Amino acid sequence: MLASVLQLPLPLPQGPPCDRRFVPVAYDLPALVQDIKSYLGDSAGIDSSEVDHEYLIGLARKYISNPNDWLRFFYNDPSKNYTRNAIENINRKANILLLVWNPGKGSPIHDHANAHCIMKVLAGELTETVYHPPNVNDESSPLTLKHQKRYQADQVTYISDAIGLHRVHNPSPNQVAVSLHIYTPPNAADDGYHIFDGATGKASFVSQARARSNTEKPAGHA
Ligand SMILES: [Fe+2]
Repeated sequence: MLASVLQLPLPLPQGPPCDRRFVPVAYDLPALVQDIKSYLGDSAGIDSSEVDHEYLIGLARKYISNPNDWLRFFYNDPSKNYTRNAIENINRKANILLLVWNPGKGSPIHDHANAHCIMKVLAGELTETVYHPPNVNDESSPLTLKHQKRYQADQVTYISDAIGLHRVHNPSPNQVAVSLHIYTPPNAADDGYHIFDGATGKASFVSQARARSNTEKPAGHA
């Protein structure tokens, strides 16, 4: 009472001068992976309808890109449009990948094998072009554009087959782009997926979406 009337400084809290309990801890990539694992749980048989993708999107947004977290998964192959690099394979539940996109290159138009796909840009920029779901009864009509959006570092987008198809590309003429992808369940990797011809809507089956393990990298590669 007396302190407030006279505007005296209040007593300092007791404790060591640099108490690390009060230092905020960064939400790093291992923490994000652990939260995804915890959310998906230990039980088998989870499917796309049981996953609250908004929760996973929230986790992806919470993580702030830090190259120190992901450089060990980074592998660029200039002869390819992009590389797919495994960060974590949560058996039958999810795949977490790091994709490295060469300048001006992109993916084909593809579906997501009845799974959720969350994409977060970690470096550079990526453009996502989304198409309406294909007409399964007519394989000769062109795909129709739904929207196109450019994403900067730390922005997150989400797609599923209910939303449509998409293609992702790096619009930069000279900068590599890097993105984090969460696929759950990992149907494309386990069972295959489809790519599409935009002009005709024709689908082609791809038997497996493969990812490179960082143990496969050439010695000395980042
Ligand atoms: Fe995709």
